[in-house]
Amino acid sequence: MIDQIRPAAAQHVPSLLALVNRFAAQNIMLPRTEEGIRRSLPDWLVVADETQGDAVVGCGCLVALTPTLVEVRSLAVAESRQGTGLGGRLVTALVDEARIRGYEQVCALTLRPAFFERLGFAVVDRWSISPKVWQACIYCPKFHRCDEVAMLMDLTEVHGAGEDDDRGSAGWNRLLKYGAWQPLKLAYQKKPEKRDG
Ligand SMILES: CC(C)(COP(=O)(O)OP(=O)(O)OC[C@H]1O[C@@H](n2cnc3c(N)ncnc32)[C@H](O)[C@@H]1OP(=O)(O)O)[C@@H](O)C(=O)NCCC(=O)NCCS
Repeated sequence: MIDQIRPAAAQHVPSLLALVNRFAAQNIMLPRTEEGIRRSLPDWLVVADETQGDAVVGCGCLVALTPTLVEVRSLAVAESRQGTGLGGRLVTALVDEARIRGYEQVCALTLRPAFFERLGFAVVDRWSISPKVWQACIYCPKFHRCDEVAMLMDLTEVHGAGEDDDRGSAGWNRLLKYGAWQPLKLAYQKKPEKRDG
């Protein structure tokens, strides 16, 4: 039987919390609070095992970073179900939901870039998803030694073959054009300079 992906409901909150925080305790994803999950419940998709009291065995959610950019966050699949395609199906369902909600880009920060690449995401510079950096990363204790890779998928029209465009497709960020984020990146990386006079 194929596990059904569905919107999360109130009865899923305890097992959802337990699943996410089990991996958070291993330092491979960020913890969530019960209140935070309840508040954002309409943005979660889950797979639940009806034979185990509807316990959540897979989950993920969408977090809006701007009106056009949304993040896939808190993606988790129970150890016993990993490697069977559930994680991939959850990401695909979240991307579909992002498209339905009218977002232009979906991003993720991950330790599993190859997994996201196979699903159509492209590796991008962390600063090309700067709303995420400013809203969340700067509060993270691992900000200066971040080991996660920024991934992006463009949901807008794909450029036609042969079109004169060297920007790539999935990696091109319409929202944060080069000129907009480059000064931020330079400011962040720049060492203090001696001033003339
Ligand atoms: C990352 C995670 C969500 C992936 O979930 P998953 O259900 O194992 O994902 P899938 O089964 O779709 O894909 C996992 C791998 O199994 C392979 N796979 C997919 N379907 C398969 C099948 N039917 N049989 C065997 N292998 C399969 C895929 O090729 C994939 O390989 P890859 O990782 O090299 O890309 C899961 O490992 C997890 O919860 N990890 C801990 C939490 C975590 O790291 N979360 C953050 C993610 S950003």
